[in-house]
Amino acid sequence: MVEQTWVFGYGSLIYKVDFPYVERATASIRGWERRFWQGSHDHRGTPCAPGRVVTLIPSGAAVCRGVAYLIEPEVFEHLDHREKNGYERHTVPVFLDDSGVDVHGVIYVAREDNHAYLGPAELTELAAHISRSHGPSGSNTDYLLQLAEALRELGDYDPHVHALEALLSG
Ligand code: SIN
Repeated sequence: MVEQTWVFGYGSLIYKVDFPYVERATASIRGWERRFWQGSHDHRGTPCAPGRVVTLIPSGAAVCRGVAYLIEPEVFEHLDHREKNGYERHTVPVFLDDSGVDVHGVIYVAREDNHAYLGPAELTELAAHISRSHGPSGSNTDYLLQLAEALRELGDYDPHVHALEALLSG
């Protein structure tokens, strides 16, 4: 039997919910941190001028906050297409705030061996790159600012994301 599955969103999946879900829950995963290290050819940039979007890097005791959605199996077709530019599904424990339990959940992670990976750079360089990038889903700056705002609404402070927000707003 194919079952409903939790998917944990840590980037645009937090604030751009263009898919049906059965349940939504604020949640977190342990041992991962966000970084604007993934290239975007199809949403916030183009193949010739990729934008920068978030992926996750393994990081000891770090806690990454986001939103978990319980979805029907057929919704993966849409999500796999949306996240096709270098992201792969991984299953990790996802802690659901309200119920206080860990469930198995899927995350979309772009590893450093994918074709669109851009990797680390100084924060000022990341901010400059984001500020000049645009793609079919809109400006790269909007992606960053909407993520920063969505994290604030979750009561989260992400040093990487909010430092970039400050550089782009300043
Ligand atoms: C996610 O939001 O969980 C994956 C990265 C993105 O689509 O921004």
